[in-house]
Amino acid sequence: MTTTATLNEAVEQVKEQVIAWRRYLHQHPELSFHEEKTAQFIYDTLLSFGNMEVSRPTKTSVMARLIGSRAGRVIAMRADIDALPITEENTFPFASQNPGVMHACGHDGHTAMLLGAAKILSGMKERIKGEVRFLFQHAEEIYPGGAEEMVQAGVMEGVDLVIGSHLWAPLEYGKVGIVPGPMMAAPDTFWITVIGKGGHAALPHQTVDSIAIGAQVVTNLQHIVSRNTDPLDNLVISVTQFIAGTTHNVIPGSVKMWGTVRTFDPKLRAEVPKLMERVVKGITEAHGASYEFKYEYGYRPVINDADVTRLMEEVVVEALGPEWVAHIRPNMGGEDFSAFQQKAPGCFFYIGAGNKDKGIVHPHHHPRFTIDEEALEVGVKMFVNAARKVVMAGHS
Ligand code: NI
Repeated sequence: MTTTATLNEAVEQVKEQVIAWRRYLHQHPELSFHEEKTAQFIYDTLLSFGNMEVSRPTKTSVMARLIGSRAGRVIAMRADIDALPITEENTFPFASQNPGVMHACGHDGHTAMLLGAAKILSGMKERIKGEVRFLFQHAEEIYPGGAEEMVQAGVMEGVDLVIGSHLWAPLEYGKVGIVPGPMMAAPDTFWITVIGKGGHAALPHQTVDSIAIGAQVVTNLQHIVSRNTDPLDNLVISVTQFIAGTTHNVIPGSVKMWGTVRTFDPKLRAEVPKLMERVVKGITEAHGASYEFKYEYGYRPVINDADVTRLMEEVVVEALGPEWVAHIRPNMGGEDFSAFQQKAPGCFFYIGAGNKDKGIVHPHHHPRFTIDEEALEVGVKMFVNAARKVVMAGHS
């Protein structure tokens, strides 16, 4: 019988290897949709374990199927593999060797953890009833994302449940963050142009002042959040760019705005662009200006299945201990793990990777971002113990 103790001992034995993989990947980051060398490294490493069907569902993604000796359930485990266009400011020996590109979100760690789990489980093929499917996903950081492409390529066929994790620096090492239901939001994007009439700043009555009107648009968009939305629903509208003007004495003819909308509820999500356009149209018309409005839907929200989330909480308790469970709040970030959750019930969870005592305090996407490498072992334990509960004989 395979026990948590046996598996955790196996994790101890691959721990150094997992750290070495993470450092190698950290040194060789690649941008979304361009993860050629990363995917090849993952592919070769998986093949070296034996016992697995390894394939490339898309150009830069990798899938490995560990099919057990008997039929049973299929559990998919996902790691994202891409890096970001950031110049690394860390000075440790394994800092990025690829100028302007950096693993600043921890995906190097995600990849290394899932490789560690694959290595351990590949040696236990005869004990597996069903299948463990390892999904190494490209392009999480850029919409339309790699997850949807992998789903289109059929990687979720026959999958009964799917799990994935994010190393999470805001959560201290020593905790695994879990929440059932809505966990991360749907991130949508909008573009607004207010078209007025430019002219001399000393003669505003001869112009249609796009800045003054644009400022009212920004203010009134918040009215949608505070007055048109059920206070118990979650909505963020953020104007993140406002471009206008060239100098102090010219009123510019137009203003361009760019920003993001975050929601969980599909009905509210469908409603928001209509409410936004109503505000933009009303404000611009009231002041004699015109407008352009464009809205693009992004990833779906990450909604955790209640049963799978309960299962993962049991994994934390059994593999690590009850004190490791952190019942976290949802947040309005976005994640294309949600694409996999369209095909099977799933759970996305956070692995605490911050550590104030070690100075590991920088946020994700920061040039000095890093993780507490002790957290890698935690991720491997979570994955192999989830496999034990779902596909190992004697445990269902
Ligand atoms: Ni990330």
